[in-house]
Amino acid sequence: MKIDLLSPASFAAGQPHAQFDWLRDHSPVHWHEEPDGPGFWAVTRYDDVWAVDRDFQAFSSEPTIMITDPGAESAAFGPYKMMLMMDPPDHTGFRKLIRSEFTLPSAKLRGERIQALARQIIDAVIEKGEVDFVAEVAGEMPSFVIAELMGLPLDDGRELYALTEAIHTAPEAQAPGAGGMAVMKMFEYGSKVMAEKRARPGDDLASRLLAAEVDGRRLDDMEFLLFFLLLVDAGGDTTRNLLSGGLLSLMENPDQLAWLKADLTGRLPSAREELLRYSSPVIYMRRTARQDVELGGQQIRAGDKVVMYFGSANRDGAKFDRPGALDLSRPDNAQIAFGAGAHNCLGQHIARIEIDAMLHEVLSRMTDFELVAPPEWLASNFISGPRTMPLRFKRA
Ligand code: HEM
Repeated sequence: MKIDLLSPASFAAGQPHAQFDWLRDHSPVHWHEEPDGPGFWAVTRYDDVWAVDRDFQAFSSEPTIMITDPGAESAAFGPYKMMLMMDPPDHTGFRKLIRSEFTLPSAKLRGERIQALARQIIDAVIEKGEVDFVAEVAGEMPSFVIAELMGLPLDDGRELYALTEAIHTAPEAQAPGAGGMAVMKMFEYGSKVMAEKRARPGDDLASRLLAAEVDGRRLDDMEFLLFFLLLVDAGGDTTRNLLSGGLLSLMENPDQLAWLKADLTGRLPSAREELLRYSSPVIYMRRTARQDVELGGQQIRAGDKVVMYFGSANRDGAKFDRPGALDLSRPDNAQIAFGAGAHNCLGQHIARIEIDAMLHEVLSRMTDFELVAPPEWLASNFISGPRTMPLRFKRA
């Protein structure tokens, strides 16, 4: 089996499950060469991914969670980094700053508003009969939610989300410098937000972040901007891809779709967990070994890159019965699409509410979905999901 987990081509039609299946069976902690780097360990079994993610003492999130090490351009950030790339105790202090906004009770308080946004998104397309489901439906929800969280106009949320997509697209699949340019634009926009919210604080996360203190002091400009970038980036195309990829798997499994629709409200929670397992929008997170350590029979050396493949862990037959089958009624679904350790997805409760609200609206008001053209997948080895998915539908 040819293993290539770097080329976006391997992810051009979804996650490379044939490669993952082979790796879990034959080489679960696999040394993967890297043309422009030292190489990395690809970790593909559920229990190993879990163990790496839980053990920040042995596996650090610094200097980065991307496979490629930070290049010269990162010098512009000096000592600054996002909390996603920090270890405890620094990470703990930063996460604490925004944790209360993302608890289950806080997320639930946003439920009604999120449902209203879902209705509004479907109202805008319901008469059309044909849509690009990704841009016009699935992408709208996370764009609006991040705008609401930050206290920004909904249209600006859309623009920020377009920048997120450029940041997550592989450099070779877009114009040179497009990713870096998108980061700069995000910072420009974030700087305007910072100035406005300092002058006129509102009841929103951006204003609260600017007023909050870490280690007895306020965040400085760069710390705020990196938080802003992380929040916009983390909740954007992940949620979008789950919704589009999720609908696509439902269309491919009509028996499952029928089962779900027979009791939409009652069955959505278990269906949503299974769609998370089945699609796993975040392909990987990287760690760096802090010490020599053994994993899955391999000797990892201090300094080695160790990459956790969530989509593979989620199809591990040692953890899930019939792992390749979409089974919306799967009991005790321990999917790991949101990660497992100190960095586990902070936005997961909000993401679940967004997903449920959108799937409810889509499946109760739209029907007879038909692809107008094959979906085109995001060219990325980091985030997985369709970029475009033109669909015909009828009003239910
Ligand atoms: C289906 C949607 C989503 C998926 C699949 C997803 C997945 C993930 C994953 C895999 C991680 C890293 C976990 C780890 O390293 O163990 C993460 C971190 C994070 N996510 Fe999500 N996410 C989603 C939606 C969201 C949303 C809607 C938000 C915010 C509104 C969000 C905010 C974050 C943040 C802030 C982090 C970093 C946490 C930290 O470093 O402590 N995510 N997410």
